[in-house]
Amino acid sequence: MPATHNVTALIVAAGSGSRLGGELPKQFRLLGGTAVLAHAVDALASHPRIDAVRVVIGSGQEAMARAALGLRDVGDVIIGGAERADSVRAGLAALGDGIVLVHDAARPFCPHAVIDRLLGALGDHDGAVPVVSVADTIAKGARTLEAMVDRSHLFRVQTPQAFHVEDLVYAYDEAGKRAPTDESTVMVEAGLKVATVEGDAMLDKLTTAADWERAEALLSARLVSRTGIGFDVHAFAGDGPLMMGGVEIAHDRGLAGHSDADVVLHAITDALLGAAGLGDIGEHFPPSDPHWQGADSAIFLAHAPSLIRAAGGIIDFVDCTVVAEAPKVSPHRAAMRSKVAQILALAEGQVSIKATTTEGLGFAGRREGIAAQAVATIRIAIDRMETN
Ligand code: CTP
Ligand code: MG
Repeated sequence: MPATHNVTALIVAAGSGSRLGGELPKQFRLLGGTAVLAHAVDALASHPRIDAVRVVIGSGQEAMARAALGLRDVGDVIIGGAERADSVRAGLAALGDGIVLVHDAARPFCPHAVIDRLLGALGDHDGAVPVVSVADTIAKGARTLEAMVDRSHLFRVQTPQAFHVEDLVYAYDEAGKRAPTDESTVMVEAGLKVATVEGDAMLDKLTTAADWERAEALLSARLVSRTGIGFDVHAFAGDGPLMMGGVEIAHDRGLAGHSDADVVLHAITDALLGAAGLGDIGEHFPPSDPHWQGADSAIFLAHAPSLIRAAGGIIDFVDCTVVAEAPKVSPHRAAMRSKVAQILALAEGQVSIKATTTEGLGFAGRREGIAAQAVATIRIAIDRMETN
């Protein structure tokens, strides 16, 4: 196979996920903080032999796809059809010559080794597909068994499946209006030679609720727990009110700062960025940039979870202590907790806000300013962390 062949991954994501159910079709649902479709795109786009990734979605799924894909480069999305085969046909019509790896969005994890094996086998065959042997006893029948089937020559066929675009277009043309469940079916029926390579349990399709639970368990086993710390101080200046934890608090003094000087939101933002090893608030929102003059600190705080979730991370808990003689924090604690949880898209039980005085000692004790200290616990995949 000449190295000059262009390799495109074509990911079909136009289904409705009826067997799994739920509010969103499975390919757009978050799995460990990242949409299933985005996992699939990342798994293929990160392979050095893959030149481009294209995605086929259903008509009316554009907004869900945009939210799922974020800034990932997949060109223009392609609109698919009623059956999976229609979606693949629509995808093929949008591709030029070269090699295509047709892949189900519902298979979020694809080891690079499988892609290596597929592209290797394509050199001597018209196509190559990953297969895994069948472990259970196989039988025919309904309420009673009619016959046992020898499983020794049976395989489950997974995706991605590799072909030369013109061969696959030919095979689909031969298939006419039929709607097979994958490409190997049309290729074999058209008399073309399809090689089998070793598949991987990681490639099993998410079809039922049990599959989803298995995938979540698999993902969480790859995540490690990280803790970050954040600290912030703002001096009193001018008249109140002041902002703390996203809540406006009546006070005779305000707080000085470039943005809205919300010490609680700043400390929590730094704790989250710290846990993910992503620098600090000043790097992401430089105080020298006039754009952030008087800014609502909720913007800063919302940025940190979007980065963490984009890397497949999960936020477990944030805790913050306010250090102030006045104003009294306790009457506002519940409101601050609820506001922080809302900004972070967490449950209130995952957020804690506390307060202390310093018994009159130091700058806080002299009522010169307010400090806040925060801790955040997140879980994030080590492999993603290392590329940050
Ligand atoms: N698919 C597609 N176009 C269709 C149907 C399916 O692109 N008309 C895609 C799905 O999005 C999925 C893959 O084909 O990535 C495999 O299909 P399947 O697991 O059957 O997904 P759904 O059809 O969405 O699920 P269900 O059959 O449970 O409704
Ligand atoms: Mg289906």
